[in-house]
Amino acid sequence: MKREPAIDSRGPETLDPADWSEALAISRQIAEDAVAYLRDVRARPVWKEMPPDVRAVFDAPLPTKPVPLAAVYREVVQTVMAYPMGNVHPRFWAWYMGASNFTGALGDFLAAIQGSNLGGGNHAAALMDRQVVDWFKAMVGFPRSASGTLVSGGSMGNLIGLAVARNVKAGVDVRELGVAAIEKPLCFYGSDQIHSCHRKAVEALGLGNRALRRIPTDRALRIDLDKLRAAIAKDRAEGLKPCCVIATAGTVNTGAIDDLPGLAALAAEEDLWLHVDGCVGALIAIAPRNAHRVAGIEKADSLALDPHKWLHAPFEAGCALVRDASAHRNTFAVTPEYLEVAPRGLASAEFLNDWGLQTSRGFRALKIWMALKQHGAEKFGRLIDQDIDHAHALSARIEAEADLELVAPTNINIVCFRYRPAGLDSVALKALNTEIMLRLQEEGVASVSDTTVHGEHCLRAAITNHRTREEDLDLLVRETLRLGRAIATQAALG
Ligand SMILES: Cc1ncc(COP(=O)(O)O)c(C=O)c1O
Repeated sequence: MKREPAIDSRGPETLDPADWSEALAISRQIAEDAVAYLRDVRARPVWKEMPPDVRAVFDAPLPTKPVPLAAVYREVVQTVMAYPMGNVHPRFWAWYMGASNFTGALGDFLAAIQGSNLGGGNHAAALMDRQVVDWFKAMVGFPRSASGTLVSGGSMGNLIGLAVARNVKAGVDVRELGVAAIEKPLCFYGSDQIHSCHRKAVEALGLGNRALRRIPTDRALRIDLDKLRAAIAKDRAEGLKPCCVIATAGTVNTGAIDDLPGLAALAAEEDLWLHVDGCVGALIAIAPRNAHRVAGIEKADSLALDPHKWLHAPFEAGCALVRDASAHRNTFAVTPEYLEVAPRGLASAEFLNDWGLQTSRGFRALKIWMALKQHGAEKFGRLIDQDIDHAHALSARIEAEADLELVAPTNINIVCFRYRPAGLDSVALKALNTEIMLRLQEEGVASVSDTTVHGEHCLRAAITNHRTREEDLDLLVRETLRLGRAIATQAALG
């Protein structure tokens, strides 16, 4: 068999385009299509099921031979771009996430073109990374002396905060000796509404799921301070070591905000670390009409917040802030010879990977920086107020309908509701509302998810969406009623 030469007559291989003018033409096409894609998003269904032939594309084997970029792009248009999750759509309110933004997308593109690795180094991207962290400190009232790091999202932000809490409070050098050397088992406390990422965090930190105490909540789904105090006292009496309170500023289920000043006072009294999970609500601090809801957040020892939620940064973008910068650095910094800071040149700056687990880091700051520069933080604050207004307007519409019911009081931007015709028990109501949710999705009308509040199953609209308009909420109410009636009738006939 004839072997191909490693280097052909055109010289060494590269990934750069053979023809830059062709690359420019396809780039222009992609940019034009991208603008149209977002401009016209309202006209498309929120979501649609992928047909089997499209699904099969994702089972194709590893490509080993070249395909022209134009053909590659065509395939992406027909598969990926045509079947999105839908969270950029104005009627996407499922789970909890942002709606992305065009400037942020340009930022992601430029970050990849510029190509820097944010592990560290003396270059502009690293300075911008620091700057964006400083901006987050300013937004939530943290001192400039605090530290922080941009991470993939809220789950990683929480893990960073809890890791620092564990190491500070362990009473032994956990980094050197490991968790087995901790004399008294550590206890973390959060409400029974706490996000599942905290379970993953305590498990990953070697503490085990049981170390995370779920404290009951009050009617408003906020952690019950008396029960928390009692749990701490009981653990101490049993020889355990209470270590950290995790306050939630905006629960994923209903948007409940724990009593942050109360928890800060309790943590100080009990000598506990106060971590705030602000993935949903920390950025309310910049919303002029609602900032009061998160007053006290600035008292946290550590805080996780999520720019890919209420700043609508394209995924992924999270942030961890820690008041005591040296405790933060001491939890993660390792300096092998190949990462030593040099007196001059490219390595003459701190290594940003000393503030977390990743070594190589993406240039997340640019997409956040560009959107904040273009729109200004005040506009993002107003958009948060707007989402909260929308949620309250939707709640009022729901309350005005005899067959709809609010299942939890609306606090911020999460509306928990259900279709509730007379005479159905909770099992039948759950089946009916689940079917409504699935049909709303399948018909491309709206994406909502579901949850259980105070033991009652319900639909849940989390309005973190700068594209949502009142007419979208009207449609949700109308379609929920229409589907509810149709499904109930079918069930009765059938
Ligand atoms: C309260 C809360 N904490 C943490 C997270 C996890 O954030 P991420 O999905 O960015 O990892 C979420 C996600 O919705 C959340 O609502």
